[in-house]
Amino acid sequence: MQKKIIRKWWKEGVVYQIYPRSFQDTTGNGIGDLQGIIQRLDYIESLGVDIIWLNPVYESPNDDNGYDISNYRNILKAFGSMADFDELLAGMKERGLKLVMDLVVNHTSDEHQWFQESKKSRDNAYRDYYHWWPAEKGTPPKRWSYFDVDSNAWKYDETTDAYYLHYFAVKQPDLNWENSKVRQAVYDLMRFWFDKGVDGFRMDVISFISKDIEFPELPTAYNGKFIPFYSNGPKLHEYLHEMNQTVLSNYDVMTVGEAPGVTIDQALQFVDEDREELNMFFHFDLMELDRAHGQPFLMASELWKLTKFKKIHSDWDAVFSEKGWGSMFLNNHDFPRTVSRWGNDSRTHWFNSATMLQTFLLTMRGTPYFYYGEEIGMTNIRFDNITDYQDINTLNRYKIAQQNNDDLETFIENEKDASRDNARTPMQWNTNEYSGFSVVKPWLKVNTNYEEGINVASQEGKKNSVLNYFRKMVQVRKDQLTLIYGSYQLLLRSNEEVYAYLRTLGKEKCLVLLSFSTQKTYIKIDEIEFKKVTLLISNDEVYETNQVNTFELMPYQACVYKLS
Ligand code: GLC
Repeated sequence: MQKKIIRKWWKEGVVYQIYPRSFQDTTGNGIGDLQGIIQRLDYIESLGVDIIWLNPVYESPNDDNGYDISNYRNILKAFGSMADFDELLAGMKERGLKLVMDLVVNHTSDEHQWFQESKKSRDNAYRDYYHWWPAEKGTPPKRWSYFDVDSNAWKYDETTDAYYLHYFAVKQPDLNWENSKVRQAVYDLMRFWFDKGVDGFRMDVISFISKDIEFPELPTAYNGKFIPFYSNGPKLHEYLHEMNQTVLSNYDVMTVGEAPGVTIDQALQFVDEDREELNMFFHFDLMELDRAHGQPFLMASELWKLTKFKKIHSDWDAVFSEKGWGSMFLNNHDFPRTVSRWGNDSRTHWFNSATMLQTFLLTMRGTPYFYYGEEIGMTNIRFDNITDYQDINTLNRYKIAQQNNDDLETFIENEKDASRDNARTPMQWNTNEYSGFSVVKPWLKVNTNYEEGINVASQEGKKNSVLNYFRKMVQVRKDQLTLIYGSYQLLLRSNEEVYAYLRTLGKEKCLVLLSFSTQKTYIKIDEIEFKKVTLLISNDEVYETNQVNTFELMPYQACVYKLS
């Protein structure tokens, strides 16, 4: 059955995510800033993208690079001022670009005024803004923390002889959503940004906001699996619905929740339009595909198989086939670079695999999210030394490895493929020192391959560049409503080299062929009938064969055809 089409700008738009710290420095302090983004708006517009998602730019002590907010209504000084922000937003509006901000409300920084008050005394007016466990009740039941050296989410605080909860770093206390004052404060700050003209929010770990405040021992069903437990709080949907009714429904905005732990059978509870919660969310099934079970930061690349990759995407497409809407991403600021992880960043295969993966995101149903640098095929930096890493996650886990006497070389080898810093290196603009990102040594090292063609300036002038392919492919998606709204049918299900699918909208049909192989491949499509194929785009030379349903693909070749 053909899904009823409800057209929306956030379904038709292409998202471009910017990690401000790493995009463009204009003040010469080695840190990117808002003026830097303003300077690059023409470039962003030239990509054909429609929506910018900006990682946090609020005031923050930066223990987790801005995901620890100390003031939701101020801009981080290193990034600029509120006047810079207003200028950025105005510049975007002029160009028809939408702005989506990061909403980080599972936790604040411990330097936020709410927490500063909360920890003062047990009867402080802000006490219940956070989760406290009085010490006289004994040691609180085990909760894991992502960024804690002891993996312990409870931190004892002497002042009031109590423990506070922090799912992330010790400086990121979790807000207590049971408290209606907290919820109202969050809705207020959302209004503050919407009233400025912001077009939506990406909601940080939104699946974690609701907690069972009795804090029972972890139910046995969740043994060793704290993420699914955290994402299954009793009042999560009540809160999201309330947020929708109180704030979101009053604006034409887009929402995308970051939803670790949310499974496919829970998906529609978030995005079924009738439930009035969110528009989209990010699931993590793909991001876990090559990670050791239950250990989100341990690579297990041997688990990667194209048939599994296909299955994840096919299953998730199916869940939204009648209701809701999906989101498609292959990397972001928390995961290694797309081409290094899912493609092949060797010299031979870099161009084809980077462009093939762009083709993939732009031909699937669901809003595509690209991460700065993906349009020029930026790769993992693979630092050899722990001293090069800046990320709290890697640094903490290194300390844990030291404490456990683990093999530290093995640890570094893992980080070369897994670390979040792979994705956070400065944008590669040109061949100047520091890749045109800054005039001084940047906060995180630049990948030296900016000197070898992985930079914007070198790719601008080249017809066959990853950058210019990206622009063309974005246009192909815009020209074919079928690629946005069409139904999806997987072909060649068990083929381990080629990902093939059909997108259909009314009488229009598009066939997408993506090679994930380092070898030439030959395929025959006989699951569907067609008489003629018309090529819309390919990243390599297309070989004609005598039979209409037989194709020869070069390594990592992508072809998109219209069928008749
Ligand atoms: C999300 C963010 C990540 C951050 C964490 C804690 O997963 O994407 O960067 O460290 O939440 O806020």
